[in-house]
Amino acid sequence: MDRLRMALIGGGGAGFIGKVHATAATLDRQAELVAGALSSNPEKAKSAAIPFGIAPERAYESYDALLESESRRDQHDRADFVSIATPNHTHFEIASAALRAGFHVVCDKPMTTTLKDAQELVELAESSDRVFALTHNYSGYPLMRQAREMVAAGEIGDVIAVRVSYAQGWMHGVDPTATPSRGAWKSDPEKNGPGGSLGDVGTHAFHLASFVSGLEPRTLLSQMNSYSHHHQLDDYGHAVIRYDNDATGLVTWSQVTHGRLNDLSIEVDGTRAALSWQQESPNQLFVRSLGKPTQIYERNPNAGYSSPAAIAACRLPGGHPEAFFEAFANVYRDAFADMRRVNAGQPTPLEPKLYPTVHDGMQGVRFLTRCLESHQQDSRWQTW
Ligand SMILES: NC(=O)c1ccc[n+]([C@@H]2O[C@H](COP(=O)([O-])OP(=O)(O)OC[C@H]3O[C@@H](n4cnc5c(N)ncnc54)[C@H](O)[C@@H]3O)[C@@H](O)[C@H]2O)c1
Repeated sequence: MDRLRMALIGGGGAGFIGKVHATAATLDRQAELVAGALSSNPEKAKSAAIPFGIAPERAYESYDALLESESRRDQHDRADFVSIATPNHTHFEIASAALRAGFHVVCDKPMTTTLKDAQELVELAESSDRVFALTHNYSGYPLMRQAREMVAAGEIGDVIAVRVSYAQGWMHGVDPTATPSRGAWKSDPEKNGPGGSLGDVGTHAFHLASFVSGLEPRTLLSQMNSYSHHHQLDDYGHAVIRYDNDATGLVTWSQVTHGRLNDLSIEVDGTRAALSWQQESPNQLFVRSLGKPTQIYERNPNAGYSSPAAIAACRLPGGHPEAFFEAFANVYRDAFADMRRVNAGQPTPLEPKLYPTVHDGMQGVRFLTRCLESHQQDSRWQTW
């Protein structure tokens, strides 16, 4: 199988998630990193490419230089897809330019900083024949895929409630105005967009609730706060959701919970049973039913109870822990299958897909926008 060629935007120097993209995309040796524009600073962009193993002639000073130069390369040599791991305010312009130049796109979240841009990007992606994947990577965990299949098959009955909480605590220790550091842009509304922790972790939590439950909101209300004195944006908040089947959703996000590292957890209540899962112990899924002992589903591709999607998302036998990189790589692997189909001139399966698409990106930005609107109107209910 020919490897797909990856071009990475962002991730140079101390940049965090770009390195995760580079590792996850190449984990299964289905892709190789061939080009990059890794920083907004032209000199750093070139020097940062060295540890990534990118050839000097394909280490570009800017993303537009990358798109222009890669477009001119021979079809069998140019990058197939562009991965965007830059601050939020750049996603729309880079993703639009990459689609227009004919590249598949893998973009990090939140997809854009405004609903208008998200709508435009949906139209652009739909009018192109390119694949657009969004790295809501928590949906790549085998047991989240198992949970989704169990819910869809009615194994927990009808869903009556979904609770997702995403708590971190690092913001207590940071003053980005005093010591500019990695991620300082997250406190700048111009670069981050209007939703602070809401955009950073709230959109992940919302996506996971949608992914597992299969539900779409009808209305929501939200309330948020900013507790860290230097921060101009929300760092704590919650949204109450009424889903289309009348189920209730509660999404909580925080980056000011002392001691919490990356504590994403989800619980889905059904009329017959309830599911729960925690990202920091991702290889176990709990199923509870009144009057019965709690069942623990292990991530184990050889267990008879593992669902097809969970088995397909595993690389190692049970008991050999898989986690963040593997889940991230699953988003890539599923998007690669579609990229290969498109490259071969074949049709791709219709949505819903296992990997998050431009439509999921749009839903995330809609969630962010409705939460902000509700908060600004004293937590009034908003129509989805
Ligand atoms: N999926 C996830 O789990 C996850 C985790 C963290 C961050 N993110 C998202 O990823 C994005 C990046 O976040 P981060 O934490 O890695 O930020 P970061 O500040 O650590 O890294 C940003 C990188 O982008 C580079 N950069 C900035 N502007 C650029 C430009 N115009 N062209 C090329 N490179 C540019 C910087 O040099 C840096 O290397 C954000 O949108 C964030 O929301 C996603």
